[in-house]
Amino acid sequence: MIESYVVVHNIAKRHNVGTLARSATAFGVSEMILVGRRDFNAFGSHGSTSHVHFRHFHSLSDARVFLKSKDCDICGVEITDNAVDVTQHPFKKSTAFLLGNEGMGLSAKECEICDFFVYIPQYGGGTASLNVTVAASIVLHHFGVWAGYSERTRDGNKYVVAERSARQVRRSFCAEKPESIIEMRRSRRENASNGFFDGSGNDVSSSSLLDALFTDE
Ligand SMILES: C[S@@+](CC[C@H](N)C(=O)[O-])C[C@H]1O[C@@H](n2cnc3c(N)ncnc32)[C@H](O)[C@@H]1O
Repeated sequence: MIESYVVVHNIAKRHNVGTLARSATAFGVSEMILVGRRDFNAFGSHGSTSHVHFRHFHSLSDARVFLKSKDCDICGVEITDNAVDVTQHPFKKSTAFLLGNEGMGLSAKECEICDFFVYIPQYGGGTASLNVTVAASIVLHHFGVWAGYSERTRDGNKYVVAERSARQVRRSFCAEKPESIIEMRRSRRENASNGFFDGSGNDVSSSSLLDALFTDE
C-alpha cells in the first residue's frame, strides 16, 4: 500500500502544525512525524488532530532511519533548482514530505535527508512563495492523485468524518503563549474538538513519548 507522511521539523508557527494536520487527514496521510519539538497548537486543525497519528523523533537522522524502514522516499518541498514540478508527479512509492521553515525555507541539513525535491509552479507576481500549509496541501493532493487514493464518501456538502479511534487518548496541548491557550480553549468549546494522539504501543519513539509533555485535563 502506498503511504504518505509529513515531517515537521522546523515549522516556527505552532498553529501551522494544526493546519497541517487538517490537510494531512484530508489527503490520507498515514502519520505526521514530529522531529525535535513535539509541542504544537491545535488551533486551525478543526479537531482533525484526533484523526492523525503522530510519531516523534529527536533527530532528522532518526526520522530518516524510520522512514527508510518503511521503504519510503523523502521528498523536500522547496523552490530549488533541482526540484521537479509537482504536477509531473515524480513519485515512485510511499513518500514523506518535508516542508521548510516559514522564514528560511528548507535548511541544508534538512535538504541532506531528502531523496528528491518538488516545487509548485506559481503564476502570479505578488509573492515569492506560498504559505507552508498551502504548499503542503497542494503537494499532498497531487500525491493522493498519483497514488490513486479513493475519494472519501460525501454527505451533502461535506465529507463524512470518521469515528475517533478507540486507541486515541485525550490530551491537552502544550501551547507556548497564554493567548494561544485561550484561543485554543475557545475554539475547542465552539467545535467540541479535542487533541488526540495515537496511543499505539511499544515503540518508544511513538506518541507514547509525547505523554511526558502533555498534561491530562
Ligand atoms: C514561506 S515558504 C519559505 C520561504 C522562504 N522565504 C524561502 O526563501 O525559502 C515556507 C515553505 O513552504 C514551501 N513552499 C512555499 N511555496 C512553495 C512553492 N511554490 N513550491 C514548493 N514549496 C513551497 C516550502 O517548503 C517552503 O520552505
